[in-house]
Amino acid sequence: MKALLNLLSDGAFHSGEELGELLGVSRSAVWKRLKRLADELGLEVQAVRGRGYRLASAISLLDERRLGSALGWPLRLLSQVDSTNLEALRQLSAAPSTSLPLWVTAEQQTAGRGRRGRAWLSPFAQNLYVSLVLPVDGGARRLDGLSLTVGVAVHRALSHYRLPGLGLKWPNDVLVGNRKLAGILLELHGDLADKCAVVIGIGINANMLAAELDQPWTSLRQETGQLIDRNELLIRLAEALRSCLETHWRSGFEALRDEWQAAHLWQGRQAVLSSGERRCEGRVLGVDAGGALLLEREGAVEVHSGGELSLRLADDS
Ligand code: BTN
Repeated sequence: MKALLNLLSDGAFHSGEELGELLGVSRSAVWKRLKRLADELGLEVQAVRGRGYRLASAISLLDERRLGSALGWPLRLLSQVDSTNLEALRQLSAAPSTSLPLWVTAEQQTAGRGRRGRAWLSPFAQNLYVSLVLPVDGGARRLDGLSLTVGVAVHRALSHYRLPGLGLKWPNDVLVGNRKLAGILLELHGDLADKCAVVIGIGINANMLAAELDQPWTSLRQETGQLIDRNELLIRLAEALRSCLETHWRSGFEALRDEWQAAHLWQGRQAVLSSGERRCEGRVLGVDAGGALLLEREGAVEVHSGGELSLRLADDS
């Protein structure tokens, strides 16, 4: 399947004969494999008499060799997985001596996890689904603001594409205007007082062009009109993450706070913060040194933090 996918990834027509010859199989075997691409991976394969077969749209496949030498830390690349975060957590449980840091990525997630129990849509070879597993030394304090540090890294990597309206939304959404481009989900493994690891999950909508989601979304391809090389994107992300993490472990999120606030789309805006049924409205002042949200209400500054909080603009903002 991998070889066939590579041949078709350019989105151009290829005759059944050509594919059969290149793969060393019969035309009917080619046809069966094409059917599997559609049935198992959800790819749209078009067949036109006299021209052959093509994918409805070109795809950028992950290249283990190229990534392996560029990411700086070992990589586990899977074709399909339920969730790269779950895979990383399983790996930590099953083989506690796994050498860390470790990257886990996949062409497709069948049960991608988002914040607050949401699903993260992860179609085959469209977007980037990646988890970085890091050991945590020095206790819980070192994790303060870590998800915002990751937000700075994702923002840096995406700045390369020069998208007007690209920015961050507390705590760690990456948006273009009000449309979601990327999300970040941190999950902990182990005991914070003892041996512990953090799984940093990042999803970036790279090449997705169609999806029914319950929130406004966009992708790099949608914004730029270009097919995005996902290997290049992951390498850029890895470079930005390594540099931001180095700063974070050395000096804490505080050293990245100005950069985060400069990228924050809702600085100074009137917003509503929700947690379950609870809501409070105020003006967004920014974040503190630990990444907590600073909200001005009735002349006082309130500090809010917690994984279940979500922020939206107030109607009159
Ligand atoms: C969000 O809801 O904004 C966070 C989305 C995080 C998605 C990424 S994709 C890679 C990693 N694996 C998962 O299952 N989730 C994260």
